[in-house]
Amino acid sequence: MTSVVPARTSAELIGAEEPVLAHNYHPLPVVVSRAEGTWVEDVEGRRYLDMLAGYSALNFGHRHPALIEAAHRQLDRLTLTSRAFHNDRLAGFAERLAALTGLDMVLPMNTGAEAVESAVKVARKWAYDVKGVPDGRATIVVAADNFHGRTTTIVSFSTDEVARAGFGPFTPGFRVVPYNDLAALEAAVDETTAAVLIEPVQGEAGVVVPDDGYLAGVRELTRRTGCLFVADEIQSGLGRTGRTLAVEHESVVPDVVLLGKALGGGIVPVSAVVARREVLQVLHPGEHGSTFGGNPLAAAVGTAVVELLETGEFQRRAADLGVVLREGLQALTGSGVVGFRTRGLWAGVDVDPAIGTGREVSERLMREGILVKDTHGSTIRLAPPLTITEEELRGALGTLEKVLVGHA
Ligand SMILES: Cc1ncc(COP(=O)(O)O)c(C=O)c1O
Repeated sequence: MTSVVPARTSAELIGAEEPVLAHNYHPLPVVVSRAEGTWVEDVEGRRYLDMLAGYSALNFGHRHPALIEAAHRQLDRLTLTSRAFHNDRLAGFAERLAALTGLDMVLPMNTGAEAVESAVKVARKWAYDVKGVPDGRATIVVAADNFHGRTTTIVSFSTDEVARAGFGPFTPGFRVVPYNDLAALEAAVDETTAAVLIEPVQGEAGVVVPDDGYLAGVRELTRRTGCLFVADEIQSGLGRTGRTLAVEHESVVPDVVLLGKALGGGIVPVSAVVARREVLQVLHPGEHGSTFGGNPLAAAVGTAVVELLETGEFQRRAADLGVVLREGLQALTGSGVVGFRTRGLWAGVDVDPAIGTGREVSERLMREGILVKDTHGSTIRLAPPLTITEEELRGALGTLEKVLVGHA
C-alpha cells in the first residue's frame, strides 16, 4: 500500500531542511514545487517570475518542450553506458557543439567546475607536450574577482576570502592579475605560461563587462606570446549576452571555450571543454575521464540545446530584450539604482545601500512575485530565461521600481 504523505507548508519544509542539509547556501525563503517557461510556483500555489534562471542554467526557460521531449525520448531508449563503450548520441552532440562554437574537439564533462578543472589539466599538458615548458613549472594567469567554481584547485586561484578561508593548502601554479587590465596581463605572462583563463563577462562579480577591446587584446596577447586563451563561458555563453558566446562581441575565437549550465537545458548537468584540435589532442586514454561525462541522456539534451541555438532565435531575443532591460535600468538610475552593467539579457544592478542590501531587495522582490539573487553587497543580478516576453520583462522592471522607491 502506498502511504499518503501529508502536504507540508513552505515553513515546514524550510524547517525540515535545517537539521539535515549542509548550510553552504542561504536560499530565499521560497519552496518551489513546479515551473513552466518563465514562471515557478511554490508549494502554496503562489507564482513567481524567475529572473535568475538557475544562474543561466535555464536560458531556455523551465521545461522547454523541445528539451523535455528530447529527454523523454532518450529516457525510453538508453541513459548511461559510461565511456567504456560508445553510445549512439555522443558523436552527433560533439560534432554539433564544435560547429556551434567554431572549434574542433569536445571533451564532455558534467558540471562547470569539472570543465574548468579539465581545462586546467589540458592547458598544463599542452604546455609540457607542445610548448615545451619544463615539467612541473607551467603557470596559468587568471583575473581577480573571478568565479570558476568550488573545487580545491579552483578556489586556489579565487580572490574571494569566503570561498577560500579554511580550505588550504592550495594548488600552486596560478598568477592573479586585475580583470580588464591588459598591461597587468602582459606583465604576468612569461615562458612558463600555459594559458590565460578568464570570464568574458564576470558573472558572480556582478556582471562586470570589460572595456571594448579587452577580449581582442587578450586574444592578440596570448597569440603573440604563445599561450592559450581559455574563455570560461559557463555563465556568459549559449545566448545570454545576445550572441552564442560572449567573446563574439569582439569577434574573438579563443583556443578553448568552457561551457556548462544552459548546455544541460535545465534538465541534467552537462558541461564541455571545446577546443582546437591541437590542444585537446594532448589527452590520451586513461589520462582524464568521467563516469557520467558524455552519457547518452546528457548528449541527447545537449544536442537539443544546440539545435535551439542554431536557430539564432534566442540570441536575437537576448539582444533585443537586452535593450529594454538596459533602458529600464537607465530610467531607474537615481531612483534607487546607483549603477548597473548589462550585456544582452543579463544585468548587475547596484542598489543604493540606503535602500537595503542585495539580500533585502531580493526578499522584497520575492514578496512581490519576482525571484532574483544578490551577488555581493547591494548588487543584484538579473538573468531571466531568454524566453521571457517583453511584457513580462517590463512588468519586472516596474516591480523593481516599486520596491526601490519604497512603495512595495
Ligand atoms: C563562470 C563560471 N564558471 C564556472 C562555474 C561553476 O559551475 P558549476 O556550479 O556547474 O560547477 C560557474 C558557476 O556559477 C560560473 O559562473
